[in-house]
Amino acid sequence: MLVLGLESSCDETAAAVVCDGTGLLSSVVSSQIADHSIFGGVVPEIASRKHLEAVADVVDKALSMAGISYSDLDGIAVTQGPGLIGSLLVGFSFAKAFAYASGLKWTGVDHLHGHIMSVFLEDNPPEFPFVALLVSGGHTSLYFVRDFLDYEIIGRTRDDAAGEAFDKVSKMLGLGYPGGQIIDKLSSEGDCGKYVFPRAWLEKGSLDFSFSGLKSSVRREIEKTGKENLSFEAAHIAGAFQESVIDVLIKKSLTALEKYKCKNFVLCGGVSANSGLRASCLSYFEKKNIKVFMPSLKLCGDNAAMIACAGYYKMKNNYFSDFEDEVYTRFLSV
Ligand code: KG4
Ligand code: ZN
Repeated sequence: MLVLGLESSCDETAAAVVCDGTGLLSSVVSSQIADHSIFGGVVPEIASRKHLEAVADVVDKALSMAGISYSDLDGIAVTQGPGLIGSLLVGFSFAKAFAYASGLKWTGVDHLHGHIMSVFLEDNPPEFPFVALLVSGGHTSLYFVRDFLDYEIIGRTRDDAAGEAFDKVSKMLGLGYPGGQIIDKLSSEGDCGKYVFPRAWLEKGSLDFSFSGLKSSVRREIEKTGKENLSFEAAHIAGAFQESVIDVLIKKSLTALEKYKCKNFVLCGGVSANSGLRASCLSYFEKKNIKVFMPSLKLCGDNAAMIACAGYYKMKNNYFSDFEDEVYTRFLSV
């Protein structure tokens, strides 16, 4: 079954062709980072306009790179939510029109479900059940995943998402947007033991997260350091911040794995590209005999292959969308 995936929830216009939920035939991602970085964050109105300009070309490219034409497709999977409403509407309306004109079956996919499914596009996918930690710009959540379509949220952030914290700390340090990659690189040049920032464990056994206290603590340290010394201290501050985020993410994931008596762990979402987080997960969980699965770097951030993968399992199980269906902006509690 050949599925065309479409993703446009935030600032990436993406299309991909995936065979039977695993075989990646093509994946095209057109990023708008350059259009938003001068504003220090995503501007929703600009994002939807850019999606509109890019979507048809991105789909054409994905089909031609896969070496197929639209008549070879068996279905279309498109991100339905959560995300920016104007951005979502571009991809969703495009998929609706495509399905109407071609007569193909189609299905709306939850963006977060897509991120969890990204590991099934890799060579050694996990066995069920597993605990998934989804860390992105909008979400930081733990899931207990029983099957392709059977997943339950077991922890979430009470304020900022981890990726959002990376972006804000980068901004506070006077560095660029998006901040994740910048902080990741800078951290490797710093002494992460020079500063110690707080960890929000919350109530005993809690699987929820909170990063706003950490962010405030970093802000106070930056103010104390002063502009004139910031260039000497930025790498140490970035390193200590990243260390604090990683520590909380890993320990809370372990609590979840123990609570659900699970030996398989999946790390996914944009922040799963973080080199410190990837290395720490592998070394920490290996000692506990827990198998770690993560998408390759190109599938960590937003892409349409993960949407095609999730859509394949939905359509295989007869979950299809109707032309009356609409996008949703807030995340669904599953
Ligand atoms: O999953 P994603 O592409 O979009 C959302 O669904 O939100 O995640 C984007 C987030 C941004 O906050 C970005 O700064 C962060 O992922 N990110 C990183 C890294 N690469 C991207 N965070 C930490 N380290 C990285 N290497
Ligand atoms: Zn995402």
